[in-house]
Amino acid sequence: MHIVNTVFDLREAIKIWRSSGESVAFVPTMGNLHAGHLHLVNRAKKSADRVVVSIFVNPTQFGVGEDFETYPRTERDDQEKLEVEGADLLFLPAVADIYSPDAKTTVTVTGLSERYCGASRPGHFSGVATVVCKLFNIVQPDVALFGLKDFQQWTIIKTMVRDLNIPVEILGIDTVRESDGLALSSRNNYLTVTEKKVAPKLYQALGIARDAVLTGNQSYADIEQQAHRFLQQAGFQTDYFSVCRSHDLEKAGLDDVDLVLLAAAKLGKTRLIDNIYFSR
Ligand code: PAJ
Repeated sequence: MHIVNTVFDLREAIKIWRSSGESVAFVPTMGNLHAGHLHLVNRAKKSADRVVVSIFVNPTQFGVGEDFETYPRTERDDQEKLEVEGADLLFLPAVADIYSPDAKTTVTVTGLSERYCGASRPGHFSGVATVVCKLFNIVQPDVALFGLKDFQQWTIIKTMVRDLNIPVEILGIDTVRESDGLALSSRNNYLTVTEKKVAPKLYQALGIARDAVLTGNQSYADIEQQAHRFLQQAGFQTDYFSVCRSHDLEKAGLDDVDLVLLAAAKLGKTRLIDNIYFSR
């Protein structure tokens, strides 16, 4: 696996592949790679001739008082895992390579970015959209892969690509979970041993709510209330739990068929997010 730190070196490497007609898949990450990230890399290999992975802990998507400084940085381990998984190129830029101090342009997908995770993390999704737009311009991939675990992020990226005519196909990849249902996340490392036992209840709450939606006897508002109570009793502080339509994340109505249940809740100091998507 080739490792590059600068935009110039990345473009040189990709130019060689492009000149022999090879296609490029791209997996952007913030590192501390786990089986969820590696699943994206594995799927990327099936989608194009070459796979580029970026590891960049993006400062602009962290709010004041969030964990930018302490976000786990495990580049050595990450490199080994990517090597084993068969990625072709790892892009490891420094902050100064991505953001010039006098940058004046940001990307915001309005509306969608202010709800759910955006409401409790103001500016977060502008940081995500801006860095992903820049990475797309740097790598110019044919296809890019994102985890459906971050369903709102995936929806925002798809909307940005549509609205800005960015020539890349966006794939959404299923969530990789522990055997107890907990969605893999770099932030699970922050959970204490006791919290780790409680954490799978977030996915349980989503399953119970999905079953209630499918049974069709209760209003969506009641189902959301019930989930709030379930999570509170388990020891979570729920941020949101919403029955949404999957294409634009608006509140679902009874006529909507394709749904996603979006949830975020804090367990101690750790904020967990998860979701379930299904059709009724
Ligand atoms: P990060 O949290 O490192 O996640 C990188 C990618 O891995 C995202 O597309 C995320 O949805 C996916 N992912 C995380 N956990 C997963 C799991 N359990 N199963 C499947 N996929 C999973 O998301 C980001 O980084 C950043 O916001 C980024 C897009 C890189 C922009 O900075």
